[in-house]
Amino acid sequence: MKKLIKLTGNKTELILLVIPSKFPEIIYWGKKLSLTSTEEAQFIEYSELPVPQAFLDDEQYLTIFPLLGNGAFQLNAFSGSRGQQSWAPQFRQLTYREASSGSLEIDARDEIAGLQLTIKLELNNWDILEQEITLTNIVNDSYQLNELFISLALPAKVNEMIQFHGRWIHEFQQQRSLINQPCYLVENLKGRTSNDNPPLLICGSNGFSHQAGEVYAFHLGWSGNHAYKLSMVSDGRKLVQFGEKFLPGEMTLSSGATYTSPKLYATYSDGGLNQLSHNFHAFIRESGRFAKHKRSYRPIHINTWEAMYFEHNQEMLFKLVYKAASLGIERFVLDDGWFNGRNHERAGLGDWFVDKNKYPNGLTPLIEQVKKSGMELGLWFEPEMVNPDSELFRKHPDWVLHLAGYQQPLGRYQYVLNLAHPEAYSYIKTCMVDLLNQYDIAYIKWDMNRDLVQPGNSLGYSGVHDQVLATYRLMDELNQLFPRLEIESCASGGARVDLGILRYTNRVWTSDCNDPVERQSIQEGFSYFFPPELMGSHFGPEQAHTTNRLNTLEYRILTAFFANLGFEQNLLELTAYECTQLKTYIDLYKKYRSLIHRGDFIWLDTLDPGQKIYGVISADKTQALFAVAQNGFPVNQVSSKLMIPYLDESKNYRVKLLNSQENTGYLMKKSVPLCNGELLLSGKVIANLGIQLPIMHPQSILLIAFTSN
Ligand code: DGJ
Repeated sequence: MKKLIKLTGNKTELILLVIPSKFPEIIYWGKKLSLTSTEEAQFIEYSELPVPQAFLDDEQYLTIFPLLGNGAFQLNAFSGSRGQQSWAPQFRQLTYREASSGSLEIDARDEIAGLQLTIKLELNNWDILEQEITLTNIVNDSYQLNELFISLALPAKVNEMIQFHGRWIHEFQQQRSLINQPCYLVENLKGRTSNDNPPLLICGSNGFSHQAGEVYAFHLGWSGNHAYKLSMVSDGRKLVQFGEKFLPGEMTLSSGATYTSPKLYATYSDGGLNQLSHNFHAFIRESGRFAKHKRSYRPIHINTWEAMYFEHNQEMLFKLVYKAASLGIERFVLDDGWFNGRNHERAGLGDWFVDKNKYPNGLTPLIEQVKKSGMELGLWFEPEMVNPDSELFRKHPDWVLHLAGYQQPLGRYQYVLNLAHPEAYSYIKTCMVDLLNQYDIAYIKWDMNRDLVQPGNSLGYSGVHDQVLATYRLMDELNQLFPRLEIESCASGGARVDLGILRYTNRVWTSDCNDPVERQSIQEGFSYFFPPELMGSHFGPEQAHTTNRLNTLEYRILTAFFANLGFEQNLLELTAYECTQLKTYIDLYKKYRSLIHRGDFIWLDTLDPGQKIYGVISADKTQALFAVAQNGFPVNQVSSKLMIPYLDESKNYRVKLLNSQENTGYLMKKSVPLCNGELLLSGKVIANLGIQLPIMHPQSILLIAFTSN
């Protein structure tokens, strides 16, 4: 007997058609329908599919687990074998367990192939659909799993997508395209989440935008290799499939062993990209599934990397501490260069002992100074890496991921330590625990600066999967041992930012690029899936080290505002005037920090591709803060009006430009009221008629506050 199972979230619903002896089919995923039982019965009665000529004789449903063994061909979600057998299972014996209105578990067995499967689906209160699949080998021989995809069908009206790609200093770039090819396949084999092909995808109806349209977003919570496929089904629907990508032989299940896939997180929005990011942000902030921030607020950082690179010098560090504290900075992060032999990038990784040449009395004097100045200390580590020029490598060359007989390629002059090797793991853990016990270290910047090539373990088997799990385990154990410790996930910038690592880390280093022109687009791509407070965004030097572009102080600091603010510059080079300006902006940031870190993050659609408008609105809509960033040359001679349809139309707002006034001259003979004082406007006027913006220079930014009592 066919029947419907409904998974209900807060505003959305997923409806599955249960078909005897087949996996169910998603027949609806969208806003809550609340069908009556009569309506359900009507649908079921007429749900038979046509069977085309010249094809299989059975009705071909698009199930949540399409299988080659059932004739799903290129939509296949599973591949594996037991030697040359058991390569096309069908999983016929299905049982359903509905735990609550939002969650469902489906068990299935294939006695011939000797496999047991459980698919778990949960549509939670944040309207995020969480799905994972577990496979168990239930017979005596080992089974080699090659692919296991989580599959979600989308309606035919979905015909555009945003894919994400990038590279170092150019992360989270968006590629928008029409879905007009039979299949798209994206694979990441870099052994970390990657900039090139992060496990993120957005699909939507024609012309979807920030403010409008139906959109579906997908995010695989995994920090290793992955693949996703997007296929056009012959009836017009689209099938999205995500899974971990295994290297040959990597996932071999011995008798009784189980593999659990990473979780796929997906959401539906009928309010464009804004609603989908609202769903993800609320889920990350409130669900308790991810690492909790351990302070009452997220401190402002100073990070030493661009201030001194490897040239650590105690005198300069002390001066930097004073300067940072005088500006109101709250956390001092000592980046790369503090440990034995680390005078350049070619040596030292693996020797996690404080360099007595640079720090004759250890880190205590620095930490005391940092604490005396009202800050806390963060310390940089790259635990998964080792330089050939290190004591660790000289003693244990066999601890690196490699394949015997081949020359393991270097990346940033380093190898990857096999963390799944018990002794290597215990050595690294001991080094870190000793330092965390000896010193008052509040925070770890956990870096990971190279991709994995020929990542073989000591048996020569592919070790990527185990490496990811060992990294998670190490983070988890440190979190347990040091409950106040916070960890930042960094991988040459944002190459390891995903919901897998965020179960253990409290902040991410989005990019090594602090040029605001580039940052504006990096941060936009990032913002759809992650809330702003997780994003480290640092004010950098006037001439950006990564691009050489020159930018004003105001554009740099305000671009880093909608984030966890930090500084990545030798503050000792700032003029007294610049320090005064920065202090004013830091005070302003602190005033709005809780709004930025808790409010609803919104993007506005703009006609000018060089302009970005975004902001945050408090839950009760009494407060909002918006940025208008003119990144490129304005396309129009006269600027547009700022219209925000997300405020409360029944309220009156005081609207105030918060920039320091000297920068608001821009390209005008005559300015606009917004630049000359506070305005009083109703939410209705702001939403429908708008506020006239000034004509802006390229590479400039406005910060506008809205307050209603
Ligand atoms: C790469 C990171 O992204 C930088 O911020 C810095 O920590 C360097 N590594 C240090 O080697």
